[in-house]
Amino acid sequence: MNFNEIKQLEDTYQLATYKKMDVAVERGEGSWVWTSEGEKYLDLYGGHAVCATGHAHPHVVKAIQDQAEKVLFYSNLVYSDLRARAAEKLISVAPADLTKAFFCNSGTEANENAMRMTRMATGREKIISFSGSFHGRTADSISATFLGKYRDIGKPNVPGHVMAEFGSLESVKAVADHETAAIILEPIQSMAGVREAEPRFFSELRMLSDDLGIMLIFDEVQTGIGRTGNWFFAGSDLADGVVPDIVSLAKSLGSGIPVGACLVNEKVSFHIKENDLGTTFGGGMLAMAATLATLEAVENDKMIENARRVESYLRDSLAGVPGIVAIHGKGCLLGIEFAEKWDQIHSRLLENKIITGTSSNPNVLRLLPPLNVAAEQIELLSQNLIMGSSAVYSGVA
Ligand SMILES: Cc1ncc(COP(=O)(O)O)c(C=O)c1O
Repeated sequence: MNFNEIKQLEDTYQLATYKKMDVAVERGEGSWVWTSEGEKYLDLYGGHAVCATGHAHPHVVKAIQDQAEKVLFYSNLVYSDLRARAAEKLISVAPADLTKAFFCNSGTEANENAMRMTRMATGREKIISFSGSFHGRTADSISATFLGKYRDIGKPNVPGHVMAEFGSLESVKAVADHETAAIILEPIQSMAGVREAEPRFFSELRMLSDDLGIMLIFDEVQTGIGRTGNWFFAGSDLADGVVPDIVSLAKSLGSGIPVGACLVNEKVSFHIKENDLGTTFGGGMLAMAATLATLEAVENDKMIENARRVESYLRDSLAGVPGIVAIHGKGCLLGIEFAEKWDQIHSRLLENKIITGTSSNPNVLRLLPPLNVAAEQIELLSQNLIMGSSAVYSGVA
C-alpha cells in the first residue's frame, strides 16, 4: 500500500484520537525510520519517547525473537526465570532503597498503582500533584494531571486530588497535611515543555513528606531508564540525591514492547499483600524479555554516558543561535524554546525529514531521541535550525 491508501484505510477504521504526522513508518534502525514511500527520517522523538535503545536494537530484537519461540505469555500465577532476572536487573540499577518491583503495562497504570499503594500504606486519601503535570489518562492519573485539556476529559475526577505550584515548597506546604497520602510529580515536566525544578526542591519535598508521614512518588515514565544521563532521576544529583518511596516507569522500559513498573521501598512493600494489586499482562514473558534486554543494551552500549554527551553537544551547537531562547532539560529529554511558536518549525523540520516532539508550551519543541543517537545526527538538527527554512537535509534516502 502507498501512503495515501494506508492513511485512508486507517482513518476509516481507527478513531481519530491523535493528530498524526503524514508519514507511515515501516521499519526503523537506531535513530532512523523508513516510511511506506521508502523515505528516511531522523527520529528525534524516539517513537514517542519509547525507543530508548533505538529502533530495532539487535540485542532487544533477538531477546524478543528467542522468547517468542519458547512461550509468549504466562501470568504472575506462575514463576518465570525471565521475570525473576528482569526484576533483579531493574532493582540492581535502581537507587538502593527501592527493593521491589510491580510490573504492569503502561505509564498511567503504573501511576494508578503507585497512588493506590500510598493510600494503602498510609490509610489516607489525599494526593498532591503539580501545575504543569501529566500522569496519564485513566481515572486517578488523569485526576492528578494538571494540563486541563486532559484533566477535563477525565471528569468527574477522582476526589481527593489537590494541586500545588511546581517548584514551590510554600505552595506544597499550603495543601500538605496529615490527611495526605502522597505527593506525585514528574521530576522534569516533559509534556508541559520540559520544565525543571531546582535540586533543592526535591530535598525540601522529601523533608516535608517525612515530617507529615506523606509518601513521595516520582513519575519517571519519561525520565527513567537513562534518559536524563542517570539510570533514574531518583537518587541522582539532579534530585539532590533524594529517593522517593515509589518510582513509576513505562515508555523506555521495554524498548517498544508495552511494559510499566512501580519500584517501591520497604515502607511501601510492607503494606502490600496478595491480591492488593494485579493485572493480567504485567510481567508476561515477552515483556520481561524486552525489559531485561533493554536494561542490558543501555548498560552494554554505555547509552547513559551518551545521553549526557548529546545534551552538551546540542547545547554547544545551538548556543547563541538567533530565535532560540533557551534549552531546557537533561540528557536525552530536551526542550528547545523558541522566540516564535513551534508549529511552523515542527512542520519545517518534518518536511526536512526530521521528527521532533511538540509540547503544551507553544514555544517549546521536545527532543526525546534514542539514548544512542549519534552526535552527527544531532548535528543534522542543529544545521536545520541554524539555517532555517533554507536548510538542506543531508540524510541518505
Ligand atoms: C510523565 C508521564 N507519565 C505518565 C504517562 C502515561 O503513560 P502511558 O501513555 O503509557 O499511559 C506519560 C505519557 O506520556 C508521561 O509522559
